[in-house]
Amino acid sequence: MADFVGAVDQGTTSTRFMIFDHGGNEVARHQLEHEQILPQAGWVEHNPLEIWDRTVTVVRTAMQKANLAARDLAAVGITNQRETTVVWDRRTGRPYYNAIVWQDTRTDRIASALDRDGRGDVIRRKAGLPPATYFSGGKIQWILENVDGVREAAERGDALFGNTDSWLLWNITRGNHVTDVTNASRTMLMNLETLDWDDELLSFFNIPRAMLPEIRPSSDPNGYGQAHIEGPLGGDVPLTGDLGDQQAATVGQVCFSPGEAKNTYGTGNFMLLNTGTDLVRSEHGLLTTVCYKFGDAAPVYALEGAIAVTGSAVQWLRDQLHIINSAAESETLAARVEDNGGVYFVPAFSGLFAPYWRSDARGAIVGLSRFNTDAHIARATLEAICYQTRDVVDAMAQDSGVTLDVLKVDGGITVNNLCMQIQADVLGVPVSRPVVAETTALGAAYAAGLAVGFWKNTDELRENWNESQRWQPQWSAEQRDTGFGKWKKAVQRTLDWVD
Ligand code: G3P
Repeated sequence: MADFVGAVDQGTTSTRFMIFDHGGNEVARHQLEHEQILPQAGWVEHNPLEIWDRTVTVVRTAMQKANLAARDLAAVGITNQRETTVVWDRRTGRPYYNAIVWQDTRTDRIASALDRDGRGDVIRRKAGLPPATYFSGGKIQWILENVDGVREAAERGDALFGNTDSWLLWNITRGNHVTDVTNASRTMLMNLETLDWDDELLSFFNIPRAMLPEIRPSSDPNGYGQAHIEGPLGGDVPLTGDLGDQQAATVGQVCFSPGEAKNTYGTGNFMLLNTGTDLVRSEHGLLTTVCYKFGDAAPVYALEGAIAVTGSAVQWLRDQLHIINSAAESETLAARVEDNGGVYFVPAFSGLFAPYWRSDARGAIVGLSRFNTDAHIARATLEAICYQTRDVVDAMAQDSGVTLDVLKVDGGITVNNLCMQIQADVLGVPVSRPVVAETTALGAAYAAGLAVGFWKNTDELRENWNESQRWQPQWSAEQRDTGFGKWKKAVQRTLDWVD
């Protein structure tokens, strides 16, 4: 058998291809960013053709770097930014409109209308999600209503919807229109119990079923199709893994038992708690979502705390406030001061997601005095990442009764030691990072490899997990409570700020 497994990770800001060996070690990678298109306040788009072009380049380049050919890969997995919505023409392969990104809030009115006439509660019950701009259903409706000719094409079966996993799979296989249960669980259109598109939910958004991809397991021995010989892999590698990126990171962090959780620090933060085959419905602002489904085995569910703005708040310091030149400088700048100097920053740029779900909230920096400097703002930004996580951890404990004894972390900001130390301080539990921090791509590779027998079972995957670093809490309980109390007051200010 071939010695390696590959994974495409199509994220919010970039696309990468990574190659792993049997020990889960990285063999090669290549990564390219794509443009963030911001046509007006609250709108965020990507060009799907640019994303496909980047995918082709990163796959080819990583394969060249590793000096590998298609026959060296046992399988390939795909993982992706979830919810981001592409609608394209099956006859030409051309998108009808740019991809509407998960952060985009243009569907605010569609989302709030759902809660005025009881449809919202049906969505909560059937799809496990609160009606919000975040999910794909409203974005599809917006395209159907606002882009000429799409509704007619959708009814004829010519307009296809997909998240970026489906868009890439359709291009790689030249025509297979598929997705997996984890991605489908982010649309407000899939019934969590039947794992199928639900006619009542489709009717809420007036979406023709013919647009939707076939829903398949996240690890599928039957595969989603073969990579086309003339495509980026240059051979017919089986495509057998497909998961939304946060579910993939949960698999990459080997959270296979109920009660195990991970927290990924990217553009936003996403904490997922494995709840096993039980569908736990949240009463504290979390999402119920599919964690993964491996082949014919029963689906495993998760509770998720999704936070819209964490790493992107650090980018905001760099790109809009210009007080740092790189994300890494947020650590050195924040370390110039002992504490936040009374400053709290709530980066509610896309409203607030979990556990508040208030799309009308707007960001605030509070507690400023003449004494404060850019260093306090940087520190307050790192603290905001950690306090938002504390909000989610508390909601998880209330919903599930599970209290974490350690928080497993991954993603970009986990290289920021100060931020991870603050995280341990704010939570009062140790924070642990694995050796392979690219858990998203690794999880997609695991799903693909399990399907073809490259890895025998999840126990084998658990053996690949090793800790690289652990941060112990240092704050007193009093410090922790005082800080969190002030954070809550700051959040209240952003909720009060309604136009
Ligand atoms: O739900 C959105 C999430 O999947 C985006 O993740 O890492 O691409 O920012 P990321």
